[in-house]
Amino acid sequence: MIESIDHNSSQLNQDGQLKHFLTTQDLPINILNEILDTADSFLDMSSQQVKKVPLLRGKTIVNLFFEPSTRTSSTFELAAKRLSADVLNLNISTSSASKGESLKDTLMTLEAMHADMFIVRHPDSGAAHFIANQVTPNIAVINAGDGRHAHPTQAMLDMLTIRRCKGQFEGLVIAIVGDILHSRVARSKIHALRTLGVAEIRVIAPKTLLPKDIEMMGVKVYTDFNQGIKDCDVVSMLRLQKERMNSALLPSEAEFFNLYGLNSERLKLAKPDAIVMHPGPINRGVEIESAVADGPQSTILQQVTNGIAVRMAVMSMAISGQLTSRISGS
Ligand code: NCD
Repeated sequence: MIESIDHNSSQLNQDGQLKHFLTTQDLPINILNEILDTADSFLDMSSQQVKKVPLLRGKTIVNLFFEPSTRTSSTFELAAKRLSADVLNLNISTSSASKGESLKDTLMTLEAMHADMFIVRHPDSGAAHFIANQVTPNIAVINAGDGRHAHPTQAMLDMLTIRRCKGQFEGLVIAIVGDILHSRVARSKIHALRTLGVAEIRVIAPKTLLPKDIEMMGVKVYTDFNQGIKDCDVVSMLRLQKERMNSALLPSEAEFFNLYGLNSERLKLAKPDAIVMHPGPINRGVEIESAVADGPQSTILQQVTNGIAVRMAVMSMAISGQLTSRISGS
């Protein structure tokens, strides 16, 4: 169990380059833009016949997943392979942890195998920071989702999708809808959107699914979906995180869909060219109607494609940031 998040484990080296990627909170805009620009160049490459570049040849990347995942772990794996790295996939929930091995011992074992990077997903908030503090200096740590705290690569793939669809961030009105309380995606997106200069960020949810003091993050709060969606450029849906709900926070899924599900009628209240996002996995008929999820305004599958490019960008930036730190001793 991770007790508290240690924000001291810096994500940047002395030269201001990324060496871990743990959260979008407090990351400077030049780093966010560098991630987006680098990802853009990898996207161009993915449409070519040969999809591989030798940037991480000879590097070993360990996908360390303490929580089940399909799209995040597979897109990280594909991203690492497209950078020519060697990849080891470890599903810890079904391996040594269940045999009683401590996290520290697992990490030391992997270090002894000369891993260069850990991609970490963990049910506890703060796990990625904890691991970044524990490992020997030359290992880069990328947070692939920790508890309700952060999911920075998901946030950045969403930023890339918005930038490619809308051209820029200034002047946009963006709504994030649904289970804000349990969502690491919502938190990481709000931090990134604010840094990138989005004019208006709205969160739309029932009171029971809103964190206390959410206004402090610089967002406008709505409990009425029809009001909150009005004139939005981006409608960003979230999954109901039932695995993180330990009490009855919802009347029923049907009632939730009625009040907070995105259907075609409601979508008409947003701008006519609004885009609809969802990080997946989607629950059709609970958060979103199939006609909308599969409709012309949906970017759900583009988000998956963009996720590979963003993960390639972050991995290559962190490896080169680690290398510079080693040379300069930062
Ligand atoms: C998100 C996650 O795991 O936080 N999904 C993902 O990364 N594909 C959102 C979710 O599970 O609801």
